[in-house]
Amino acid sequence: MIFHPPDFWDGRKILFGVSGGVAAYKSASVVSALVRGGAEVRVVMTRHAMKLVGRATFEALSGKPVYSRVFGEGGEIHHITAVRESDCVFVAPATANLLGKMAAGIADDLLSTLILVDEKKVVLAPAMNTGMWESTAVQENLIRLRERGIRVIEPAEGWLACRETGKGRMPDLEPLLEELYCLLHSPRLLEGKKALVISGPTREWLDPVRFLSNPSSGIMGGSFAGVLRAHGADVRMISGPVAGRQPVGIQVTEVETATEMAQAAEKFFPWCEICIMAAAVSDYRPVTCSPKKMKRGKSEEMTVTLAANPDILALLGARKGGRVLVGFCAETEEEALLTEGKRKLKEKNADCMVSNLVGGHGEGFGMVPVRGVLLDRFGNHVPIQGTDKFSLAETVVSRVASLLQ
Ligand code: CTP
Repeated sequence: MIFHPPDFWDGRKILFGVSGGVAAYKSASVVSALVRGGAEVRVVMTRHAMKLVGRATFEALSGKPVYSRVFGEGGEIHHITAVRESDCVFVAPATANLLGKMAAGIADDLLSTLILVDEKKVVLAPAMNTGMWESTAVQENLIRLRERGIRVIEPAEGWLACRETGKGRMPDLEPLLEELYCLLHSPRLLEGKKALVISGPTREWLDPVRFLSNPSSGIMGGSFAGVLRAHGADVRMISGPVAGRQPVGIQVTEVETATEMAQAAEKFFPWCEICIMAAAVSDYRPVTCSPKKMKRGKSEEMTVTLAANPDILALLGARKGGRVLVGFCAETEEEALLTEGKRKLKEKNADCMVSNLVGGHGEGFGMVPVRGVLLDRFGNHVPIQGTDKFSLAETVVSRVASLLQ
């Protein structure tokens, strides 16, 4: 599960640098994923990288020759043209040695030479032992590189090849691609804006082992969070229980019940300038939750008394101020999409409403395309005709950006 639009890599030209860290073996799967996504990838390896992974692996995966030397390889890559023709120079892994050379402006092999051509295109994914990562030398070099505008993806924490645990791992494939997507995304319409995304289902407990809920996967909210971050926003999420991971780089407050979700929403709403209410909130909860597992008993029927949960979107709408508030409207009938969308938009005082079909043939939940209509407070409405959730999030976020102005 990667929280970015599936066609993001299509046609992108990526010059992919591999320097000599053990994480070079992971780079093979990154190149493979980028190529599968439609990117044109050209790989440049350092001498040490080739001791760790054979160039044939990268040649097979990229479908292009791998370059490692400035001169004497035959069919040489012209380093200036190669960079000029690329959208991005992505180095993964970037070793401590490479960072040091870059900080000092040393260009003594093909990769370090390419990097110097246009540092604005460079994205680094450093990977090394924790001690090396934390060393003053590496940290000072990183400060210098960042000051020059070079973008760096922080290493992850975990098990390292040197049999130690700590910060220094190259992030796994999906988080790494998500970070790269965020850094390469353009335009950045919400730089510095604060966005709150409320996502996922709620659970309303009947007893310690049973609850009322719905099939919400949190993918819609996760897509919004990813897209908002890629537009430069500072994103916070409130999420009901979901099975998959959350998008990287986002602070998540986990909740279970609608009451907890409402409390968290009230807490963080004053902080935000944009709020996306994508959660599938249970409208009702059992009046009582049995402290013990409810027994089957002899009766053929059972009655549960429910109490209404707060309407979180309406509560937020009532204190919206200058914020932009986006809601969803879930309907099982096509004819109701527009009328109910308009009604809920007005009654809950939202600025935008995604009115979408749910139920039927699994519509509305998980990775299925969205069908419905996008409405705004000015009376505009445009159809959504089977759009994937990431692209829908892109469309809505662009609309949010224009409403903010
Ligand atoms: N919503 C909410 N709190 C609730 C119920 C819904 O904040 N207790 C929000 C949803 O997150 C969504 C919007 O209100 O953004 C509309 O939700 P929807 O389920 O379509 O409608 P309801 O208001 O619950 O009305 P109904 O179930 O009658 O269609």
